[in-house]
Amino acid sequence: MDPKGKTVLLTGGTDGIGKELAMQLRERGAAVLIVGRDAERCEAMRSLGFEVTQADLVDRAGLDAVVAVGRARGVDVLVNNAAVYDGYDPDDPATIDAADRLLTLNLLRPIALTTALLPQMRRLPEAMVVNVTSGLAIAPNDHSVYCASKSGLRAYSMSLRHHLRGTGVHVLEALPPNVATRMNTSTGKRMAPQECARQILRAMVCGADEANIGMVKVLRAIYSVSPALARRVMRDS
Ligand SMILES: NC(=O)c1ccc[n+]([C@@H]2O[C@H](COP(=O)([O-])OP(=O)(O)OC[C@H]3O[C@@H](n4cnc5c(N)ncnc54)[C@H](OP(=O)(O)O)[C@@H]3O)[C@@H](O)[C@H]2O)c1
Repeated sequence: MDPKGKTVLLTGGTDGIGKELAMQLRERGAAVLIVGRDAERCEAMRSLGFEVTQADLVDRAGLDAVVAVGRARGVDVLVNNAAVYDGYDPDDPATIDAADRLLTLNLLRPIALTTALLPQMRRLPEAMVVNVTSGLAIAPNDHSVYCASKSGLRAYSMSLRHHLRGTGVHVLEALPPNVATRMNTSTGKRMAPQECARQILRAMVCGADEANIGMVKVLRAIYSVSPALARRVMRDS
């Protein structure tokens, strides 16, 4: 898909990979409607000329506000990128509400946004749903609920692609590796968010089903030979 002239609704577009993707999509001629939560970061994107909806997607009212914008503007591309990583500890019952919130944002909201916007998108000759998952969707580490959310979104993406076969709506799953953003505080090797966004955009333009980015390509190769080894690699990294 050529992004030129397309309207893109991008969640989590105020920081990290989403912010870089917003910039690069705009450079390619797309109109990018950003969703973010933090007021200052939303304002910073507005000052760069983006149209921004400030909404906490965990809240039902936030979801409704974003759906209203998407329906009113008409969306060619929906990018489900907003997510959180932390908050749940299996040994701490007090964190179960954090698990609810994480699963809502990372898994249920992409499903809700897709379902709300799909009727309009189906009428277009060319449209796309981009779901940002993770290498952890293939092989989990010890962030159990995050990994569950991402493998759930991966399964949803695969199933949705099958469901939409023969329509103009393409489903792309983007699987980033470790990327240097606020979400990822690891001290290991991390890809620059600009490069990650560049690879997602390239997959969008090529019409690929999956963007296996950086080390995720290697992980996929290991997984195809030995799923147990791939799981060990992710557990120990
Ligand atoms: N970074 C990595 O190493 C890595 C690896 C694999 C996959 N990923 C995936 O890549 C995607 C982007 O991650 P990132 O590292 O770029 O994250 P990030 O820098 O932490 O940015 C997250 C974005 O999501 C928004 N967001 C968070 N909670 C929200 C909520 N409740 N409602 C609305 N917006 C909300 C944030 O807005 P506010 O700042 O306003 O809250 C921000 O714009 C995620 O799906 C993540 O799981 C990242």
